[in-house]
Amino acid sequence: MTAIETTELTKRYENTLAVDDLDLSIPEGVVYGFLGPNGAGKTTTMRMLTGLTQPTSGTGSVAGVTVTDRDGLRTHIGYLPEEPPLYEQATAYEQLDYVAGLRDLPEEATRERIDGLLDELDLTADAGTRISDYSKGMRQKVAYIQAVLHEPDVVFLDEPTSGLDPRAARTIREMITDLADAGTTVFLSTHILPVVEEVADTVGILYDGQLVAEDAPDALTQRAETGATQTLEDVFLELTGTDPAADVEATNG
Ligand SMILES: Nc1ncnc2c1ncn2[C@@H]1O[C@H](COP(=O)(O)OP(=O)(O)OP(=O)(O)O)[C@@H](O)[C@H]1O
Ligand SMILES: [Mg+2]
Repeated sequence: MTAIETTELTKRYENTLAVDDLDLSIPEGVVYGFLGPNGAGKTTTMRMLTGLTQPTSGTGSVAGVTVTDRDGLRTHIGYLPEEPPLYEQATAYEQLDYVAGLRDLPEEATRERIDGLLDELDLTADAGTRISDYSKGMRQKVAYIQAVLHEPDVVFLDEPTSGLDPRAARTIREMITDLADAGTTVFLSTHILPVVEEVADTVGILYDGQLVAEDAPDALTQRAETGATQTLEDVFLELTGTDPAADVEATNG
């Protein structure tokens, strides 16, 4: 089964065509790196695929569930949004217990899983502290755990390494690879191209709401005519007219 399938998926806001006739067909177990400059439509695509916003036209399904069936999607998907909503007054433990409860996850096994994930992300010592006292990176870690806790079939990660120190970013990259090895499909947006080159099986480049390239990272950087290799940065710059490094500064700065 394909994990993510869209046909002419489109989102129009009043003055903006945010996503324009997007066709995706992503097999199970693939890490899909979704690239594009600021405003290209990445987050809008993810919000449609996770049922948070309705397409203006076109169709989509995730794990076989149509994207307009928000309740049906719930058990199949996990989502790390660009700006994760967390309960400021809760500790990480409380936040994660609460989410586990909402999802009716088995208590004991889930607590063990939470402990394991907190440990992997070096958050155990702070897990009893209120989220209002957390740094951006610490929040990002809690939000990541929240997205994968219920072992969904398809995980959507919008800039998962944003705000993370190099060690935590590495851990997340390893976790993404592990997820895919276990058969989970990972749909990941990032401005950090080396992350994509490391973890993605397929890269899609979005520009002005349209998919302007889609291929394995190796294939994208190989020039058919000359056999010469370009960097992914070169490819991105050529297709979007935007320097990816400038985007990273805009996003993290
Ligand atoms: N709720 C909204 N109302 C109106 N316009 C919106 C809304 N959300 C997004 N847009 C517009 O849709 C376009 C795509 O935005 P989107 O957030 O999907 O881009 P993105 O690729 O995620 O960018 P970034 O890399 O900055 O996160 C932009 O022009 C944006 O202004
Ligand atoms: Mg975005």
